[in-house]
Amino acid sequence: MEKGQLLYEGKAKRLYATDEQDILWVEYKDSATAFNGEKKAEIVGKGMLNNKITSLIFEKLQGAGIASHFVKQLSDHEQLVQQVAIIPVEVVTRNIVAGSMAKRLGLEEGTILKRPIVEFYYKDDELGDPIITEEHIEMLELASTEEIQELREKALKVNEVLIGFFKEVGVDLVDFKIEFGRDNNGLILLADEISPDTCRLWDSETKQKLDKDVFRRDLGNLTDAYELILAKLGGQHS
Ligand code: C5P
Repeated sequence: MEKGQLLYEGKAKRLYATDEQDILWVEYKDSATAFNGEKKAEIVGKGMLNNKITSLIFEKLQGAGIASHFVKQLSDHEQLVQQVAIIPVEVVTRNIVAGSMAKRLGLEEGTILKRPIVEFYYKDDELGDPIITEEHIEMLELASTEEIQELREKALKVNEVLIGFFKEVGVDLVDFKIEFGRDNNGLILLADEISPDTCRLWDSETKQKLDKDVFRRDLGNLTDAYELILAKLGGQHS
């Protein structure tokens, strides 16, 4: 497989074409950004850790019957994925109050929710990714009513499976963001990444934060936290 031209560069990843149709080559970068790009840093090793953690999680999800764009891990910081047209809706699922939900609703961080809550955000950097309702999604023609239900159901299924994986290794899944895309046949596939950049993960005992909040809130060494998550999930760090 040959790496082709650069198609897209985002905050955390570069996407390249390949010589195989509909297969993309993803390179995870060492950049860390928060607050819609206002806070930035280069953190050596972060790209490799997120690539390995995302690959492990997508493999585990595929094993649990949840299809995604993930094809295979290529190297420490690269993976192959199926090309999809990303739906510009960030789907956030929450089990414990934290982050923007704590702020928006005046709730205490750490409050356990009686049932998982799914939220939708419009993926638009210029607008600062505003929270939106299902009616907004329909009005903006980002997805149909049936597709929105599919996004919600898939998010809840991913949540159920991920809660189990993390619980087994002593980690609470507080919340996470996922993205979806449509393949050539219009089928909706889980896409993008699932890593400590996109999840809140707390040590079940100590409640220590093992995710990007370490960077957002200057709580210590980010790669130490991500390495711990990789090790807990059974991955190797080279
Ligand atoms: O900031 P907020 O509390 O809304 O974030 C909820 C979850 O979604 C967190 O796990 C956060 O890391 C993730 N997220 C993300 N990308 C964004 C916004 C939130 O991965 N653009």
